[in-house]
Amino acid sequence: MFFNNLTIFQYCLLLLPGTTFATQISPRSCSNCSCVVAEKLGPKLSPGASFSFSTTAAPRWSEFDAPDPGLIVDVATESDVQITVQYCNENNITFLAQNGGHGWGQTFHLSLEGLLINLSGLNSTTFNAAKTEATIQGGALVRGVVDAAYSNGAQIPTGNCNCVGALGAILGGGFGRLMGLYGLGVDNLLALNVVTANGTQIKVTPETETDLWWALRGAGPNFGIVTSAVITSYPVSSAENGAWVGSFVFSETQIEEVVEAISALDLLPEMAVFLYYAISDGSPVVLVSGSYAGANNSDGPNAFASITALGPEVEQAAWEPFNEVNAAGDSFCVKGGYKPAYGAGLAELVPSTWRSIWNEFVDFVAINGTTASTVMVDCYPMEKSRSLPDSSSSYPWRSTINCNAAAIPWYDDASLNAAAVSFGKTVRSLWFETSGTPGDETYINYAVGDESYSVVYGDNLATLESLKSIWDPLKRFDQFFPL
Ligand SMILES: Cc1cc2nc3c(=O)[nH]c(=O)nc-3n(C[C@H](O)[C@H](O)[C@H](O)COP(=O)(O)OP(=O)(O)OC[C@H]3O[C@@H](n4cnc5c(N)ncnc54)[C@H](O)[C@@H]3O)c2cc1C
Ligand SMILES: *[C@@H]1O[C@H](CO)[C@@H](O)[C@H](O)[C@H]1NC(C)=O
Ligand SMILES: *[C@@H]1O[C@H](CO)[C@@H](O)[C@H](O)[C@H]1NC(C)=O
Ligand SMILES: *[C@@H]1O[C@H](CO)[C@@H](O)[C@H](O)[C@H]1NC(C)=O
Ligand SMILES: *[C@@H]1O[C@H](CO)[C@@H](O)[C@H](O)[C@H]1NC(C)=O
Ligand SMILES: *[C@@H]1O[C@H](CO)[C@@H](O)[C@H](O)[C@H]1NC(C)=O
Ligand SMILES: *[C@@H]1O[C@H](CO)[C@@H](O)[C@H](O)[C@H]1NC(C)=O
Ligand SMILES: *[C@@H]1O[C@H](CO)[C@@H](O)[C@H](O)[C@H]1NC(C)=O
Repeated sequence: MFFNNLTIFQYCLLLLPGTTFATQISPRSCSNCSCVVAEKLGPKLSPGASFSFSTTAAPRWSEFDAPDPGLIVDVATESDVQITVQYCNENNITFLAQNGGHGWGQTFHLSLEGLLINLSGLNSTTFNAAKTEATIQGGALVRGVVDAAYSNGAQIPTGNCNCVGALGAILGGGFGRLMGLYGLGVDNLLALNVVTANGTQIKVTPETETDLWWALRGAGPNFGIVTSAVITSYPVSSAENGAWVGSFVFSETQIEEVVEAISALDLLPEMAVFLYYAISDGSPVVLVSGSYAGANNSDGPNAFASITALGPEVEQAAWEPFNEVNAAGDSFCVKGGYKPAYGAGLAELVPSTWRSIWNEFVDFVAINGTTASTVMVDCYPMEKSRSLPDSSSSYPWRSTINCNAAAIPWYDDASLNAAAVSFGKTVRSLWFETSGTPGDETYINYAVGDESYSVVYGDNLATLESLKSIWDPLKRFDQFFPL
């Protein structure tokens, strides 16, 4: 193959031999580099596929250490993904699939010589006649999956934020407000259509490729691009297809009793509880949010009575149809800006730790331009997910983590990077001092990238590495906590 072993950059030079480039040449600054894909990759793709350059790309959730591709391929069919991977392999081009663009791990290193496969065009969610199985495509967002499920009289376990890639979240484990009822996202997968590292498109099921099936459900981004997934869908009557959602603002003087009340909550399968530090009307506040899935009755308010009994300063609660319950998180969805987030997995919440973290938060948000910053923790009933053995998937923390916490500094001025990183690391170390887990266990999708790999892959690390040498020996998938 004539263009073997050329980067996009080298290829551009070849196609434009008369051009003189500065030492820092990039396809982005090379005005005619669309020729690269137009001439070679373009004709191989479906008519709906298109190309763009990263200067015209939609921003990611966080621009901190974000991938910086020279070229973006907007795929339109699942085979476009396969063809693009084959093309990249033949031409030694580094590539990365992007779905919701919310991955905040600082392990991406896609440079201007690399190619981003934009999965957004693959956003369908379809159902079988009985609505017991859904097929969601690799670029579907939580919003699309939730809407499709609701209009089909069903529920599908997804993350809690509309803007996140549905499979982006699930392939690392998949936490969400329905997990007390249905388990982790990975527990609900039935089959995966995958483009593997060597450009083969295969269907992975528990029966066909047992090892890959295990690896993809927890370490997915390291083993393939999932172009579509079959997932369990749960038919629910419209009267029951909703949740009571309450949010309660407390005075900071109540942090200790609020944390104690959350810890003492009897988390029924229908429930999830969230604690946030955020800025509201210019002041830092303590916010508790509770979710109770099911029909519009008194079960939700009763289940959170111990929280409301503490006397919140502001109280808002309503039953909402399930296609609206995630809306409260839409302010988290705003893309752009820097958000170097630091996460931790927790078995328990300790009041004195949350007091120390409050002090750190107040100090950080006193800096001009940081008012969108937040500290948050999501806690879930884990019994359903623990009804499966640890060995059932490569998600490693089934039996240890009850809550996922993250400190999210959020700002636009890059000169605050050092202060933000210091804030994030300090909060994370406070969590780890009293996490109640044996080590520094962290859900991979909340990790940042400076952790040792045993923190995100646990005891599965060695097995995952050996499977990596079988399924991706040339390490094509080398961007997200790469094995
Ligand atoms: C606002 C916000 C809310 C969140 N809420 C939740 C939540 O409720 N529950 C939860 O579990 N997590 C949650 N997360 C964490 C989330 O799971 C991770 O950020 C996840 O990596 C985001 O996936 P994405 O597709 O949006 O991001 P991307 O950056 O597009 O993808 C992240 C990584 O996954 C890979 N990937 C994405 N799709 C595929 C695919 N189809 N096949 C193979 N690899 C793929 C990408 O290549 C990349 O390496 C949240 C994050 C944010 C920022
Ligand atoms: C492939 O590209 C990488 C840099 O992107 C380079 O280090 C490597 O030598 C190239 N491999 C071949 C076979 O050209
Ligand atoms: C861009 O490159 C293509 C392919 O080499 C060539 O046909 C075309 O004339 C070039 N366009 C310009 C404006 O240089
Ligand atoms: C991905 O494609 C969608 C259209 O399907 C587009 O709206 C979005 O801006 C693209 N993302 C990037 C990063 O270019
Ligand atoms: C899928 O993407 C198309 C093109 O960007 C958009 O018009 C459509 O609304 C999306 N569908 C869903 C379910 O998100
Ligand atoms: C839920 O029930 C309450 C109490 O009966 C009622 O006031 C409210 O309107 C109901 N909400 C919805 C969305 O039906
Ligand atoms: C705060 O930052 C904004 C821009 O983010 C700037 O316009 C303003 O002058 C700053 N204020 C102070 C007091 O530094
Ligand atoms: C792709 O890799 C798999 C796993 O190593 C292997 O079974 C398959 O034969 C390979 N296919 C091609 C076309 O190289």
